Amino acid sequence: MTGNANANANAIEIRELSRRYPRKGRSEDLCALDTVNLTVAHGEVHGLLGPNGAGKTTLCRILSTVLLPSSGSVAVLGRDVVRQAGEVKRLIGIVFGGDRGLYPRLTARQNLDLWASLYGLRRGVRRDRVDQLLERVGLADRADERVQGYSRGMKQRLHLARGLVCAPGVLILDEPTVGMDPVAAHDFRALVRELRSGGHTVLMTTHDMAEAAALSDRVSFLDNGKLTLTASPETVGELVTSYERLDARGLPDPLRERVGTLPGVAAVTAVEQDVTRIETETPEATRAVMLLLVQEGVTDIARNRPLLEEAYLHLIGRRRGMAVGR
Ligand SMILES: Nc1ncnc2c1ncn2[C@@H]1O[C@H](COP(=O)(O)OP(=O)(O)O)[C@@H](O)[C@H]1O
Ligand SMILES: [Mg+2]
Repeated sequence: MTGNANANANAIEIRELSRRYPRKGRSEDLCALDTVNLTVAHGEVHGLLGPNGAGKTTLCRILSTVLLPSSGSVAVLGRDVVRQAGEVKRLIGIVFGGDRGLYPRLTARQNLDLWASLYGLRRGVRRDRVDQLLERVGLADRADERVQGYSRGMKQRLHLARGLVCAPGVLILDEPTVGMDPVAAHDFRALVRELRSGGHTVLMTTHDMAEAAALSDRVSFLDNGKLTLTASPETVGELVTSYERLDARGLPDPLRERVGTLPGVAAVTAVEQDVTRIETETPEATRAVMLLLVQEGVTDIARNRPLLEEAYLHLIGRRRGMAVGR
């Protein structure tokens, strides 16, 4: 990138950022972001996790210069989002979910061409760039259909192409897979992985821990405007995938002991009268335990995957809107 005075600085530097919204009829403001500190390195995919209302969109809007901080500072590629908003705008690509920003009566190609012209790309350059992007997000063969007939996943891929029109140094994705069916979400994640291997810096918000763990180099937890933790995805990945839990009723002692000797069984504990909790490390172990229990006539078994919720409670500290399934 030319003219980048701060080539070695982090791609995103957020210092003591707060954002308050006035509340009707109340003297005190709502604090949507509360002294948030966060840095995202060049080439990093950073997952910003948090339940509804945590402040994720507020942060994305500040990064994309459409909303001003109440206090603190935010720099994108060394440029201040307030004082150098014009420059920041040219350096970032933004993908907000939903239908906003797409023209349904235009085709995908026309949408991208329009967007590229808004970025000041000349006609000749534009044509190649739009072709490349359509190819890249897998819409080349549907490029000349009107967007109104697109599925949710296709629209979201088009959003992503739109976010890439200006060849941004930093890409901001706000809940990009919300409302997508599993196949579309899977394809979309593959695209984000591609961007990651292409060296793009990505800040992606999600309320889905499994998604964050699968895509991110690091993840942060935002709750109630406060950043509570930044961790590697391995840490979160372990939390997300390593344990399952079965609660079984009416196990005779010898059976309880046998269960404890099965491979992949991490813990067997009595949790209440007549209920034994069995924690397993792999889905195979869970299956083996269930098989044994059923063979032995134990049928009152509850299977759950508590860890996401526990991790969530532990990290976020309250029970609100986090996706626990995958
Ligand atoms: N324009 C606004 N005016 C007043 N309050 C807002 C506004 N935008 C967001 N909020 C509030 O700020 C908090 C954070 O919202 P948001 O950033 O949208 O969270 P998230 O994207 O994590 O769901 C919420 O309590 C929300 O109601
Ligand atoms: Mg949001």
